[in-house]
Amino acid sequence: MSKPQTIAVVLAAGMSTRMKSDIPKVMHRLAGLPVVDHVLASLDAAGINEAIVVLGPETADQADRFAPHTTVVQTERLGTGHAVRVALDASNTGEADILVVYGDTPFIAPKTIKALLGWRQEGAAAAVLGFCPATPHAYGRLITDGDQVSRIVEAADASSDELAVGLCNSGVLVADGRKLKAWVHALKNDNAKGEYYLTDVIAFANAENDTCRFTEGPVDELFGIDTRADLAVAEGIIQNRYRAAAMAGGVTLIDPASTFLSHDTTFGTDVEVGPFTVFGPGVTIGSHVSIKGFCHFESATIGDRATVGPYARLRPGTAVETCAHVGNFVEIKNARIEEGAKVNHLTYIGDARVGKAANIGAGTITANYDGFSKSLTDIGAGASIGSNTVLVAPVTVGDGAITGAGTVIRKDVPDNAIAVTDAAQKNREGTAKAYRAQRKAIKDTKRKDS
Ligand code: UD1
Repeated sequence: MSKPQTIAVVLAAGMSTRMKSDIPKVMHRLAGLPVVDHVLASLDAAGINEAIVVLGPETADQADRFAPHTTVVQTERLGTGHAVRVALDASNTGEADILVVYGDTPFIAPKTIKALLGWRQEGAAAAVLGFCPATPHAYGRLITDGDQVSRIVEAADASSDELAVGLCNSGVLVADGRKLKAWVHALKNDNAKGEYYLTDVIAFANAENDTCRFTEGPVDELFGIDTRADLAVAEGIIQNRYRAAAMAGGVTLIDPASTFLSHDTTFGTDVEVGPFTVFGPGVTIGSHVSIKGFCHFESATIGDRATVGPYARLRPGTAVETCAHVGNFVEIKNARIEEGAKVNHLTYIGDARVGKAANIGAGTITANYDGFSKSLTDIGAGASIGSNTVLVAPVTVGDGAITGAGTVIRKDVPDNAIAVTDAAQKNREGTAKAYRAQRKAIKDTKRKDS
């Protein structure tokens, strides 16, 4: 008989009350990815690629983003047992095992999930993930008899002896799906909180002489996020993990503590990252790249041997190709800086192509927006854009063309042409001395009057 698959039920109907947020707590981001997506990624890595996500009514409109997973809406939050019942009633889970996890507990590792699932392979009807937090407080306690979990008692319903038990319920549980469905239908809410406790299913299993086991999981994997402070702690944890992984993969982080990574940041080898750099989502860095400090990147790619920063901002759609240079106080958006091109100082390049080996002078601006629509600037290979050039898009500067300093380019410049704006300079001979004397006299008068 082939092993039945496992389907996860992800409980995510909790309100954001303690977050004081209009956004559901599971949708707050850690390293650029919603908390619940970290849980789904762990499930996937553990081989569970089918999940039913239980949403609250406020999040019902988020259903599409969870595809291919299914979602159900728990209209009234009547407890964890009720949430699982709603999920199982709405889905055809057949013979599958059901793994219950929380959408607000992002660090659960695939290894821990697999260890828990192992109990089902060994014939247990249910298995619970326990942990021993330093301060058990409000957690449910696992009441065990040898290897068997006889029941789970909620802190609000526990005796003082039961509260002295250190082994707590993480909330993660796997069970025979058919049995679990029957058990959650039999739950009562005659308890301290007046809720349908999922935890009561363990007593039901014991009453049926079923085997119930537990695995003790690492405390740091079972950290749940309820508040903004929890979110900040979780961000710190995840950043440290990503920094360590980047360094282990061959990246030098000069100051790891001030380098912020996203869940999907990728690096080649021998990349050096200076302090105070933020990698937003969607950033890919090649090999032998030098990123000076104080940079901010989002949805951008940086090719091999490129140099970027300090103080560069690469916005979505930016591609800095091999050996290109992007220097200080440069903002680039939706633009390709081709191989070996240089954009070194105080420049905005938006909606543009900067051709191979072109040089962009200090203070160049692509005027890409006329207040209504965005237009493209195309700069040819080997072009040289003089300092303080304004390129009024849509406009093309041909291969090898030159623009003079301070030029406003409104018309296309042919290949190899030099474009200048003719506003003749006037030199008024000898007037500087008189001008200075006049200014000084004004200043002296003001000083006397004050
Ligand atoms: C639950 C467990 C407790 C365990 C603790 C671990 C029960 C009865 N108690 O406590 O033994 O130590 O988790 O954190 O299961 N949720 C829903 N719908 C609901 C209620 C909750 O989706 O109607 C979700 C929440 O969003 C959250 C999770 O279930 O992700 C746990 O709910 P929470 O209220 O935090 O847990 P407790 O019931 O306090």
